[in-house]
Amino acid sequence: MTRLHNFCAGPAAMPTAVLERAREEMLDYRGQGASVMEMSHRSPTFEAIAAQAEQDFRDLLAIPDNYRVLFMQGGATMQFACVPLNLLGPGGSPNYLDTGIWSGKAIKEAEHLDLANKHLNLANKHLAGPHIAGSTRGNGYVHVPRPDEIALSADAAYLHYCHNETIGGLAYDYVPQVDGANGEVPLVCDMSSSILSTPLDVSRYGVIYAGAQKNIGPAGITVVIVRDDLLERALPQTPSLLGWKVYADNDSMINTPPTYAWYLAGLVFQWLKHDIGGLNEMETINRRKCEALYAAIDTSDFYANPIDPVNRSIMNVPFTLADESLNSVFLSEAESAGLLNLKGHRSVGGMRASLYNAVSEADVQALITFMQDFERRRG
Ligand SMILES: Cc1ncc(COP(=O)(O)O)c(C=O)c1O
Repeated sequence: MTRLHNFCAGPAAMPTAVLERAREEMLDYRGQGASVMEMSHRSPTFEAIAAQAEQDFRDLLAIPDNYRVLFMQGGATMQFACVPLNLLGPGGSPNYLDTGIWSGKAIKEAEHLDLANKHLNLANKHLAGPHIAGSTRGNGYVHVPRPDEIALSADAAYLHYCHNETIGGLAYDYVPQVDGANGEVPLVCDMSSSILSTPLDVSRYGVIYAGAQKNIGPAGITVVIVRDDLLERALPQTPSLLGWKVYADNDSMINTPPTYAWYLAGLVFQWLKHDIGGLNEMETINRRKCEALYAAIDTSDFYANPIDPVNRSIMNVPFTLADESLNSVFLSEAESAGLLNLKGHRSVGGMRASLYNAVSEADVQALITFMQDFERRRG
């Protein structure tokens, strides 16, 4: 058996120790005579797995008691719709920061809801379409808006941003301030590709959400952290399966949850706590990984990364070759050397190495060695 160096942007590499543990427990979960995917989500055994996963996640991020942790489905994309549905009940306009493809998709979903409301001529006419409170589209999204470039609308219901643009390789180096004209505006953050990569001050946020398939576990589960006072703001037309409060009131088991993905996420949290030693240690490793790769790119005339250094992502490192006609040979030689999934997103081209938690320093070193060798031969 060989596990190669996997730089996939998602679904991403899982820690080998987690897969080994899952393999050991596959046929007979701790004397239950069945695998986790074959037992009722209402059984005491699964309830214990679910509760332990939530506790470990809370411990890792030091989540305060006044926040609920929800385990949902539908991916982060479903949360693009859940955010306005769950927060616009009292009225006001949704505010967004625009830093690239994923924040753009969240904005599109808020526009869609606004059009749907107008079309249905719903009673809540005080709702407004999204307000773009800051955007760096004009300079090609090579940095995020600076704090003094963010302007909330006077009626802001929340401010949404994407902490780490997975495709662009762009990340915030600060937490936006949200003092609106009428007091605190809840800050809502898509952390799909950066959650659990560093410690986090959850109390700065109203809502954090993340699809699992990068740092949490396999695809199929989505984690939402929501401050409990925000659970009462849903629009009346919110379908029950999209309503955060419904999940909070039913321990995320309103219907059959993705039990196996939940269990695997729990194993990843255990790995982070016990094998890695927590998020401070994880951050140290992650910084060493990305700094080594950025240094290799910056010290070469053959490779380039366009992002302003203060906003470079620690998780997703896009890079281009000086001679783009070498892209396909780079990729095929990389694959032969056991370096998988380095092709950039189809919308931007070039290369991208995703360095999520399960990607080791040895994986990154293997990539750097290959890149330097390729440059010597082809540069
Ligand atoms: C930052 C970010 N947001 C949202 C998504 C969409 O996630 P999903 O496919 O789980 O809906 C992704 C997927 O890669 C992402 O990277």
